[in-house]
Amino acid sequence: MELEKKNTSYQHNETAAATIAAHYDTPPLAYVRSYGCQQNVNDGEKLRGVLLDTGFGICDTPDEADLILFNTCAVREHAEQRVFGNVGALKKLKEQNPRLMIGVCGCMAQQQSVVDKLRASYPYVDLVFGVDGIDRLPAMLAERLQKGKRYLENPRQRDAVVEQVPIRRDSGFRAWLPIMYGCDNFCTYCIVPYVRGRERSRRPADVLAEFRQLVESGYKEITLLGQNVNSYGKGLTGADAGDFADLLNLLCTQPGDYQIRFMTSHPKDASHKLIDTIAAQPKLCKHIHLPVQSGSDDMLQKMNRHYNVAQYLELVEYARAKIPGVTFSSDIIVGFPGESEEDFEKTLALIKQVGYMQLFTFIYSKRGGTKAAELPDPTTHAEKAARMERLLRTQDDIAFPMIAALAGSRVRVLAEAAGRAAGTLNGRLDNNLVVEFPGEESLVGQYLEVELTGSRAALLLGRQTGE
Ligand code: SAH
Ligand code: SF4
Ligand code: F3S
Repeated sequence: MELEKKNTSYQHNETAAATIAAHYDTPPLAYVRSYGCQQNVNDGEKLRGVLLDTGFGICDTPDEADLILFNTCAVREHAEQRVFGNVGALKKLKEQNPRLMIGVCGCMAQQQSVVDKLRASYPYVDLVFGVDGIDRLPAMLAERLQKGKRYLENPRQRDAVVEQVPIRRDSGFRAWLPIMYGCDNFCTYCIVPYVRGRERSRRPADVLAEFRQLVESGYKEITLLGQNVNSYGKGLTGADAGDFADLLNLLCTQPGDYQIRFMTSHPKDASHKLIDTIAAQPKLCKHIHLPVQSGSDDMLQKMNRHYNVAQYLELVEYARAKIPGVTFSSDIIVGFPGESEEDFEKTLALIKQVGYMQLFTFIYSKRGGTKAAELPDPTTHAEKAARMERLLRTQDDIAFPMIAALAGSRVRVLAEAAGRAAGTLNGRLDNNLVVEFPGEESLVGQYLEVELTGSRAALLLGRQTGE
């Protein structure tokens, strides 16, 4: 019954709201900026929801804000440097407006070294708290205002699942829906398990309730989130017991006009049952993001990924056999410690063999506290950058012809936003590719039928059928 204790529900904090209201003549405004993955973006939406619930208004630029909150990402050094740069740039704003509060939260704030640095070198930062602080934000703000002192929390890990957190979503037609939090995989390069805590799944009934609410309020695309959705269900017992495929079957059979995506699928836990479910359920997009990270068994082992290339390829082949037209995307790390030229070439061979529609590529970034940070890493950054260039070129040579070959087909797309050229729209296909076509902005958020006419690099071009 450990899980029971960890599940809580958000409570509106009237005392904090009153304390905050008493500090301002007019309702204060908050600006929240999220970095990093979709989980973090979803957390940012919750931070806005909680702020609205506490009497704040939300603004879209930092200039007019009384509270600026940076919801940060720690996955690579570059992400952290950007945040420190952006926080540093606020010093001036704070001098101009002494009543401005500046907060740093999210994954970076789960690291003691970051909190220490903010404490020592960024005295104008008022508020620091980690990923488990969203529901406690009103209390922290009230304390900061009441005591007139900085409120800096040292990293703590509650590993809680908090339900019913108010949310202000960024979009009215695409929604993020977390089904689990944390990660237990400890890939040796990755900081996420250290900053996001232990893996815990939401109860199917809670996921279903949020899902139905989204569909009923007109959401057309719902993306289920977890660092490893394939291990959903670990720790759920009794009536809650079930795996990710069971959850998908439950959601996909709800009435409504919607489609479902999910990320991320860890190859070690992607089961044939999952693939059979994707094949059987029309509401599930026929696209699988299946991060491989490397094409070298030696690297995969050193990364602690728990699969080898042959097992990965078997999975891809099974999916191709079962799901007509299925497409794949992947994450690749270039220059993991000890990666040789030969290892890297195995990655090139693998991406040629699979034929991914999209790749998300990263040069290895050393993260303090992870196992890989201890490994010797003799390859220079210049060599790694050159490998990255080759990887990108190889991928373009694979993907562009695959994308161009789609010309002539008719597809259903979800109109997402105005396109780059005037009078055009961008729509997303089932396979996650984007098509640009002439269309009115009023059609954003609707499903449309588009005939693909050609492509420019990775961008498809088309026109609405019937036009
Ligand atoms: N849980 C997901 C993704 C987590 S982070 C998964 O397992 O696939 C997203 C991507 O960032 C990872 O897939 C990996 O390719 C990359 N990444 C994580 N840590 C990194 C590091 N230290 N250096 C470079 N890339 C990293
Ligand atoms: Fe990081 Fe691996 Fe967990 Fe993904 S599965 S978040 S890469 S530790
Ligand atoms: Fe970054 Fe945290 Fe996501 S480290 S990738 S924001 S889980």
